[in-house]
Amino acid sequence: MSLPRRVSVLGSTGSVGVSTLDLFERAGAEVEIVALVAGRNVERLAEQALRWRPGVAVIEDESLLPALRERLAGSGVTAAAGASAVVEAASADAQWVMSAIVGFAGLAPTLAAARAGAVVALANKESLICAGPTLLRTAKLAGGAVIPVDSEHSAIFQVFSPSNAQHVARLILTASGGPFRGWSREQMSRATPEQALAHPNWSMGAKISVDSATMMNKGLEVIEAAYLFAMPPERVDVVIHPQSIVHSLVEYADGSTLAQLGPPDMKAPIACAFAWPDRLPWPAQRLDLAKVGPLTFEEPDPERFPALRLAKDALLSGGAAPTAMNGADEIAVSAFLERRIGFLDIAGVVEETLARMDRQGLMRSDQNDPVESARAADATARRVAGEVVRGLMAPAHA
Ligand SMILES: NC(=O)c1ccc[n+]([C@@H]2O[C@H](COP(=O)([O-])OP(=O)(O)OC[C@H]3O[C@@H](n4cnc5c(N)ncnc54)[C@H](OP(=O)(O)O)[C@@H]3O)[C@@H](O)[C@H]2O)c1
Repeated sequence: MSLPRRVSVLGSTGSVGVSTLDLFERAGAEVEIVALVAGRNVERLAEQALRWRPGVAVIEDESLLPALRERLAGSGVTAAAGASAVVEAASADAQWVMSAIVGFAGLAPTLAAARAGAVVALANKESLICAGPTLLRTAKLAGGAVIPVDSEHSAIFQVFSPSNAQHVARLILTASGGPFRGWSREQMSRATPEQALAHPNWSMGAKISVDSATMMNKGLEVIEAAYLFAMPPERVDVVIHPQSIVHSLVEYADGSTLAQLGPPDMKAPIACAFAWPDRLPWPAQRLDLAKVGPLTFEEPDPERFPALRLAKDALLSGGAAPTAMNGADEIAVSAFLERRIGFLDIAGVVEETLARMDRQGLMRSDQNDPVESARAADATARRVAGEVVRGLMAPAHA
């Protein structure tokens, strides 16, 4: 088995980053860490750097460089900071790069890793949403690859053969339904950040947890799947599966449907992306179906979870719409976590931002470079979404 040896972890201090390093530890993987990259968590980054001895440890927030330097003094690990150091670290000579920075900030480093010809294990969904075709083309041209880490896309990746793509009738993404699956809209209108963050099956970062509660996460995943597997929007469906055991399915033209199953643990798709096309022997939790019990499925409710429709519409509109939707959602989720708006306002802010941008002709871009175009759409969407949030801030949320 030939496993990557020189690896980098972007977003090493987050949920996926920590799981990646934990997997290396548990599998006894003989890796040489080229770079560890974090945003602000200097304590955890320094701890990881002292354990894994990467060539470089990068903290994006430049004001934290002295603190990082102090913690790494005498260790031989180079400390660096700032957005350009993040991109530089992402392009360093690694064979395999875990892309697990959260948000639009992950786009430039992910593209840099792809341009450098690494195999990119892709958790950061925003790079696909905002520049999917460019990212995939860049990786191909550079002789690397993009292997999805999101459990749903990893599932499809494992049961989808590109040479059989013409025989695929539908991709079916499963969704747990999040913490508010059985809640009425009235109950959801009073949901707190703590309740939204309490995902029933998965332990994840704050942004994706809230996105799971609104189902915007599933909407983003529909867009990702359409790009990753070159599937038209109308052939990507979603089904609610509260147990999170079936991670997604591919339906073929003859009515045969293939699924991938496993316990809800991100280390499984990470292991798959690390060893692909081989399989990594590690002490993974095994699936005992008799113990799991009934597996159930239901239709998503578009009334209570409008984010799914917004994402499909953005995918159908194309152009800047997916990027704008993503930027608006990042602003809306932050505002909710800071208790400036209510839970149901999140989808409202996204919808109103897209409508205003459309009305004001702000979806058009005069940039030829798709990444610059995405950057412009993201910045505009953030500005407009900020205005919408301020307009919404009722005294109750202020
Ligand atoms: N968690 C999951 O199970 C899961 C599943 C599928 C896909 N994903 C996707 O994977 C990505 C990571 O998710 P997560 O749950 O691991 O998020 P998370 O726990 O919030 O971690 C995010 C990571 O990104 C770093 N970061 C934030 N801003 C940065 C910046 N400007 N430059 C460099 N690093 C920055 C953070 O550093 P600090 O903490 O040091 O600030 C942290 O290491 C997201 O795009 C998410 O949608 C996650």
